[in-house]
Formats: sequence, structure tokens, C-alpha cells
Amino acid sequence: MTSNSILIEARGIKRHYLRGSETVKAVDGIDLEIHAAEMVSILGPSGSGKTTLIHLLSCLDSPTEGSLSINGKPVAGLKEDELTKVRRGVLGFVFQKFYLLPTLSVAENVELPLLFYRQPVRREETMAVLRQVNLEDHARFMPNQLSGGQMQRVAIARALIIKPKILIADEPTGNLDTENGIAVFDLFRALVREQGISVIVTSHNLVFGYRADRIITLADGRIVREEKGPAAA
Ligand SMILES: Nc1ncnc2c1ncn2[C@@H]1O[C@H](COP(=O)(O)OP(=O)(O)O)[C@@H](O)[C@H]1O
Ligand SMILES: [Mg+2]
Repeated sequence: MTSNSILIEARGIKRHYLRGSETVKAVDGIDLEIHAAEMVSILGPSGSGKTTLIHLLSCLDSPTEGSLSINGKPVAGLKEDELTKVRRGVLGFVFQKFYLLPTLSVAENVELPLLFYRQPVRREETMAVLRQVNLEDHARFMPNQLSGGQMQRVAIARALIIKPKILIADEPTGNLDTENGIAVFDLFRALVREQGISVIVTSHNLVFGYRADRIITLADGRIVREEKGPAAA
């Protein structure tokens, strides 16, 4: 693989917190490359550092040590507005709690990031991303009319509307049953195969997590195992 296909490059990143007189080593020296069009899952028990790592990779938090580049651009020392520029069009986010606004329709929820980034809203593009998550016939529904699995797919459409190169999802299946959880991971795989975007997804559930190209297991803020998934075969 050539170096220009590396979308995220982390070298020796650490994130230590001070808690009273104790240092919590939430992320403790991680090297990681995320390439174009790959699905990487980050597994590990609660407290192993998954959320902290994913916040570092998405520039929502800064490492206390080490270096990080997004799309070839080092992010150390960038101000908030410069970071926003680096993230825009590159990173899309999906969370465990879907964070849909209850008073907006499905389509309006999907369009929110466009307002945030001051980009034009085009309903046909909204419908195109809703089609990608199999919800094009739910555009006018309100969030309280949806199942949990449907809500998470709206949240995925909302991340896709800005056409990210990388979709970053922290425990997106944490509030879903097995069937809906597998559907979310299979949707991610389809996005990787068909759209060529990359997906980084955390989970503490192996049933879901092993449906990726690359599986990284964390313990105590470090990578303790790295495997190829069945999807890569
Ligand atoms: N803001 C914070 N301040 C202090 N400690 C934190 C903070 N955020 C996370 N931690 C600690 O860092 C470790 C890793 O947490 P986290 O990244 O949330 O793990 P995971 O997502 O795998 O459950 C835990 O011990 C957690 O208590
Ligand atoms: Mg977490």
C-alpha cells in the first residue's frame, strides 16, 4: 500500500489523566495506521481505552505525547478552527446514543451537519444517504416512530451526509440487540466495499467486532493483539 492511502497515522500516542495524585494511562503508547477503504474494529473490555483512543483519532482530544496526522496533515498545535477544517469532509461520527433531535424529522436530522458546516442542503442528497442505510421511505418519520436499529441507521446517514473519508463509530451497537448490531456492522462493511470509505468502530462484543478487515484489541491503553478478520479473506 502506498503512503498516500494512509488516512490516519498515529505514532506513540498517549493520553494520561491526572486523577488526584494518580496518573490514569487511558491510552499508553499506540502506533496505528488507518488506510483508505478498510474496516478496523477496536475491541477490549470496558476501561481499556477505546473511547479515549477514538477521541484522539478524531481530534476531539489531544494526545499528551506522540504524533498524529489526519489525511497527511500533522494536527499537533492546530487551533480549533483549523482542526474543524481538517475534520470537515474527512471524519464522520456515530455514537452509542444516537443523539437524534426529537422535534426534527429523519431527513432534517440527517441534514444537521450541513447546517453546522454551513453547506447547502439538497434534499436529493439526503434521500441518497437515506437510501444507503435503507431508510428512504422513512424520511418524514419522527425519531420516536423508529426502532433502535432504525435510529442508529439515521445517525449513520447523518454522518454520511458530509461525505466523510472515514466513519468513526464508538460502540454504535451498545444500545442494540444482536440482530440490529449485526445489521449495523454489515452496513459498515457494505459502505467500505461499495463507497470505499474507511470505518473505525469500537465494540466490547466479539460477535460484532470480528466482522471487520482488521481487529485490534486493547488492554490498559495498549494494543495487545492485531488480527486480520474474516472479512479481509
Ligand atoms: N476524563 C477522564 N479523566 C480521568 N480518567 C479518565 C477520563 N476518561 C477516561 N478515563 C479513564 O481512562 C480509562 C479508559 O477509559 P475509556 O477510554 O473510556 O475506555 P473504554 O472506552 O474502553 O471503556 C479508564 O480507566 C477511565 O476511567
Ligand atoms: Mg468507551
